[in-house]
Amino acid sequence: MPAPTSWWEDLYRTRDVSDLPWYTPALDVDLGAALATHAKPGSRILDLGTGPGTQAIGLAKRGYDVVATDIAPSAVRNAAHAARREGVRIDFRVDNILDSHLEDALVDAIVDRGVFHAMPPESRPRYVARVARILRPRGYLFLKAFSDQEPRQDGPYHFSPEELRSCFQESFEVLSIQDAIFHGTLEESPKALIAVFRRR
Ligand SMILES: C[S@@+](CC[C@H](N)C(=O)[O-])C[C@H]1O[C@@H](n2cnc3c(N)ncnc32)[C@H](O)[C@@H]1O
Repeated sequence: MPAPTSWWEDLYRTRDVSDLPWYTPALDVDLGAALATHAKPGSRILDLGTGPGTQAIGLAKRGYDVVATDIAPSAVRNAAHAARREGVRIDFRVDNILDSHLEDALVDAIVDRGVFHAMPPESRPRYVARVARILRPRGYLFLKAFSDQEPRQDGPYHFSPEELRSCFQESFEVLSIQDAIFHGTLEESPKALIAVFRRR
């Protein structure tokens, strides 16, 4: 599902985020559990591709120091309003991970819920190099992507655990890849994988 900037921008400019299939008001349970194991409150976390901003807000409420980015300016603007309404402080920035202007070693961990799985295959090595650069050494990447066990073929790319491993293993230790569910607004939630990587 290759998606240029304008595709995402049009989506967030014209749609109510709570209707989007990936919208969930609370912090993703699998990401929350992985963070509780590996990242102390106060750690600096990047919510990459924040979209509606609900994950960034959930992280800030747990006491993390949150930076949140998205390629779509409208997503960032609306997510910043949502964060203000919720009374949390988040460093929001418009940023394309494939051409990122974020600082080297900016964060202790990165959360990616549904960004990598939308990248075309030829962009994956660039994505891996950029997230490795933004993470401090030994920093964590928590990633949720659709699984190849999901039968519906429309939407983002689907991954087997082996495929995910092969994308990341050169720059990251693979700590775990487990079956999960991608909760959102669809009646039947897609099958997903939750992966925990540590930068080498
Ligand atoms: C499936 S949505 C998930 C949104 C959010 N993470 C969540 O779980 O609610 C994917 C998000 O990635 C953003 N995105 C897509 N390509 C991106 C890129 N190259 N750099 C940064 N964000 C990107 C989109 O604008 C969109 O908000």
